[in-house]
Amino acid sequence: MNAVTVTALGAALGAQVDCGDLRRLDDKAFGQVYRALLDHLVIRIRGQQLSDPDLIAFGKRLGTLDFAPLAKTGKERARTHPEIVIVSNVMENGEAIGVLRDAEVVWHSDNSYRDRPLSYSALYSLEIPPKGGNTGFANMYLALETLDPALRAKIEGRTLKHDMTYNSAGDLREGFQPVNDVRDAPGPSHPIIRTHAETGCNALYLGRRPNAYINGYSVEESEALLEALWSHATQEHFTWHHVWQPGDLLIWDNRCVMHHRDPFDGGYRRVMHRIQCAGDVPALKPEGKIGHPRAKVAA
Ligand code: OGA
Ligand code: MN
Repeated sequence: MNAVTVTALGAALGAQVDCGDLRRLDDKAFGQVYRALLDHLVIRIRGQQLSDPDLIAFGKRLGTLDFAPLAKTGKERARTHPEIVIVSNVMENGEAIGVLRDAEVVWHSDNSYRDRPLSYSALYSLEIPPKGGNTGFANMYLALETLDPALRAKIEGRTLKHDMTYNSAGDLREGFQPVNDVRDAPGPSHPIIRTHAETGCNALYLGRRPNAYINGYSVEESEALLEALWSHATQEHFTWHHVWQPGDLLIWDNRCVMHHRDPFDGGYRRVMHRIQCAGDVPALKPEGKIGHPRAKVAA
């Protein structure tokens, strides 16, 4: 029997979940962890000792694991486990062991540039630099709830085109060419407001800012609307920032959260292993509600 304690962390989102050893979580305790994820949008579980197979086994309880094929930039070492994406600045024998380097990682939602973006991502920390590399999260239910009604009217029912050319550290993905016109950028369109299939609540779904385009507007109009949406959605009071320790597992819900990483000093090692779950095709449903309860904690 695992006792599970859930403690809200940030004002807008995030909770610490204490549940003992994740490798030995019974089904009831797992259900409580999963509930905490839907209620708090991102959860932190500390003090774990997970091998890659342990991480994969835990990930399979969250959903169907996805291999995030476009995480590849072609410059990093081949994966040992196809399910695990290494996020790291470490070089071995002249080759990067993972992706995202030591760069700032711009605000984004994982794999929004695919027809079926990810639901959950879970990032497990093995080595952490003494400072920098903190990861911030922003509540997109709350961003929608507090959006200026006039701005909201301009995006209601619209779709946003999500560019797949660059990763969130600004690196060109394997096999892609630079983008000259946002309207021609390769990638799917998704509703700008989407209904979360499990909570039934609507959230703003922005993906990432570079090369985004709101379909049906001129590029100038789209740029102006995107600037307004992004400056609203990334306000500090919608966010919570995590300072990593080795052994932390962070799990977030890409359907209602964006995340950002601060850059760090590349003279230090940062090594994280990530697994991710396949999600559904984003949709705005007529029955979608405004007002996820976690956002009310912040009000
Ligand atoms: C990711 C990501 C941020 C970080 O793994 O999807 O954005 O803190 N990582 O490394
Ligand atoms: Mn990410």
